[in-house]
Amino acid sequence: MNNLLKFSIGILATLGFAWLAFVVASVRQFGDLTPEAQFLEDDGSRPPDADLFPKDLSGLAKQGAEDYLSLGCMTCHTQQVRLEEAGFDVERGWGKRPSMPRDYVLQDHVMLGNTRIGPDLANFGMREHENNWLHQHLFEPQSVVPDSICPPSPFLYQIADEAKEGSIEIPDREENNQTRHVIPSLRANRIVAYLQGLNQDYELPEMKFVETAAPVEEEKQSVDGVPDWLAQQMESGKEIYMKAAPGGGLCFTCHQPTGLGLPGQFPPLVDSDWVLGDKDRLIKISLFGLMGEIEVNGVKYNGAMPPPGLPPGSLSDQQVADVLTYIRNAWGNSASSVSPSEVAAVRASIKGRAPMQMWTAAELATEKKTEK
Ligand code: HEC
Ligand code: HEC
Repeated sequence: MNNLLKFSIGILATLGFAWLAFVVASVRQFGDLTPEAQFLEDDGSRPPDADLFPKDLSGLAKQGAEDYLSLGCMTCHTQQVRLEEAGFDVERGWGKRPSMPRDYVLQDHVMLGNTRIGPDLANFGMREHENNWLHQHLFEPQSVVPDSICPPSPFLYQIADEAKEGSIEIPDREENNQTRHVIPSLRANRIVAYLQGLNQDYELPEMKFVETAAPVEEEKQSVDGVPDWLAQQMESGKEIYMKAAPGGGLCFTCHQPTGLGLPGQFPPLVDSDWVLGDKDRLIKISLFGLMGEIEVNGVKYNGAMPPPGLPPGSLSDQQVADVLTYIRNAWGNSASSVSPSEVAAVRASIKGRAPMQMWTAAELATEKKTEK
């Protein structure tokens, strides 16, 4: 009897807990959100601070989502802008802010994906490609992006002998030097509507737009998605890291060209929370150095890093930004870039600090974050 009672309580507790997690928690998160359409201003804009559902896709686009799924586009394309700490996504121009769970609440199939052979498409609609371009790309990606490895889908089109109403002109390729005309099928139109509808172009209460160093629209994208200015920062950062002459950072002499440091003496920069975590703290130690006991990847170090640079502490805002962007993204590290203005803001916030006064971990722990 006693056991039966325990057993029943156990069952009830399990069910109760599941109910709390699945039902109560999701109602709390999303239950009070107002359906979008009823809430918009007359001119279609969102009232500030309105707690809304994200935008729903049009009916055609929803069907397109099924086609997208069935054609396996998800094997190469993700639909998730990662958090700032986790990578370059916002800087690459893949979105104005990281994606949040709420962005997906209206989707039947959430197609986050997990492999990025092609660019992330969470905000494809914001890239403002013409419908024509999209059909050309869908029919034969190589007709608009010559080296593309995105697979063509000619079976979604009917080939026409000449231009007619509703036909799309496919640009010439050298091999088969002739202009082709194709008529999109309903499926092709659905996929295009779906891709055009992918947009996270609104701020959420839990996630505002992120300000990037370079305005997103001006970016030139290379095929691997790293914009020019970022590639430049990485290149200049590596030079500073490896330079042992005035203007250099000397970093490699202690942390080694591999970023792995030397056991017992110099801590590693690879996978270090000091490098990948809080930018504020990272900028501070790059300006004034660090001493005393610290822990990196579970190992204690007790050394001293004089203010980096030659002469010590002489690196400019741009140089600090470049070298930090480099160490945050070299050797398999991946984190958002650091801009000169972020360095300048931190520098201004610690203006009165005596030259050469290295930080200690304890002091950094009590510091307030710089207002940006
Ligand atoms: C083998 C991997 C792969 C598959 C599968 C794939 N793509 Fe791609 N896709 C790529 C690559 C790589 C690029 C970048 C080169 C380019 O722009 O063509 C790309 C680019 C794109 C672009 C242009 C993105 C931009 O921002 O310029 C679109 C749109 C696109 N793919 C749609 C699709 C659709 C729709 C499908 C499913 C029918 C699909 N892709 C399947 C690899 C793939
Ligand atoms: C003279 C040797 C030396 C040089 C040069 C040097 N560091 Fe360090 N660095 C150290 C030591 C030692 C520590 C650990 C300090 C402690 O134990 O408190 C450290 C700690 C760090 C940390 C925090 C701990 C970690 O491993 O993540 C970072 C980040 C860092 N250095 C980055 C740099 C950068 C960037 C440069 C070049 C601009 C640089 N260091 C140049 C010796 C050096």
